[in-house]
Amino acid sequence: MEQVPSILRTVGLEKSYDLGRTKVRAVCGIDLSVQKGEFVSIMGPSGCGKSTLLYLIGGMTNPTRGSVFVADTDITHLSDSERTALRRERIGFVFQRFNLFPTLSAEGNVCLAQEIQGARGRKAGVERARELLKWVGLGEKAGRRPYELSIGEQQRVAIARALVGMPEILLADEPTGNLDTENSWQIMKVFESLNEKHGQTILMITHNPEIAARADRTIHMRDGRIVNVEEDD
Ligand SMILES: Nc1ncnc2c1ncn2[C@@H]1O[C@H](COP(=O)(O)OP(=O)(O)OP(=O)(O)O)[C@@H](O)[C@H]1O
Ligand SMILES: [Mg+2]
Repeated sequence: MEQVPSILRTVGLEKSYDLGRTKVRAVCGIDLSVQKGEFVSIMGPSGCGKSTLLYLIGGMTNPTRGSVFVADTDITHLSDSERTALRRERIGFVFQRFNLFPTLSAEGNVCLAQEIQGARGRKAGVERARELLKWVGLGEKAGRRPYELSIGEQQRVAIARALVGMPEILLADEPTGNLDTENSWQIMKVFESLNEKHGQTILMITHNPEIAARADRTIHMRDGRIVNVEEDD
């Protein structure tokens, strides 16, 4: 039925946490296929395994069972260093707590991410950082430190930082979780533009049904499983 090959695919994905006497089954057999350029939102009650699923897909934690394919590569079979390299090249992460360095400006935070990624020379780095910040609407505020920015603006710096390697896949864990309506829509505009103009594949967790509805598809989770998939277009 699929015309386009999947850029992301999970097969029988499971993750359990062993807590001595009890075992938490955070993800219990998820088969998910995402096509290149798709915008997917993930919803579900607190504790149902959304973040765990995203971390598994991003190769930040290993599954107990099952596989995660990024394009044709089963990332669960890679060595740690191979997985890190793949993540660096192909996947960007936006967290709910964006962890910007308080002593660095917006530009400094994006530059640091470039340096960590082993990006080019200092000048190219600064220019590129400014370009990315302009792109998320913070061109004028590149020199400000996080405490001189609103929460919504800080989140946009975190998005610029996630885009440093222009990853094909963007994973976002409640990117609008801390934001009011106006700021949430601004973040969504950035995501929609990334998706529509740059063909980026986006997986976004949200608790807000209106935000979720902006995606092509909404996946509903409960108790570690997908219980419903809604086409939003
Ligand atoms: N490192 C861990 N060790 C033990 N249990 C964990 C760990 N991480 C998550 N869990 C448990 O796994 C389940 C799923 O957690 P997860 O963070 O994926 O939920 P979530 O859907 O993202 O929730 P929220 O909407 O509150 O962020 C929860 O029961 C949680 O307590
Ligand atoms: Mg979570």
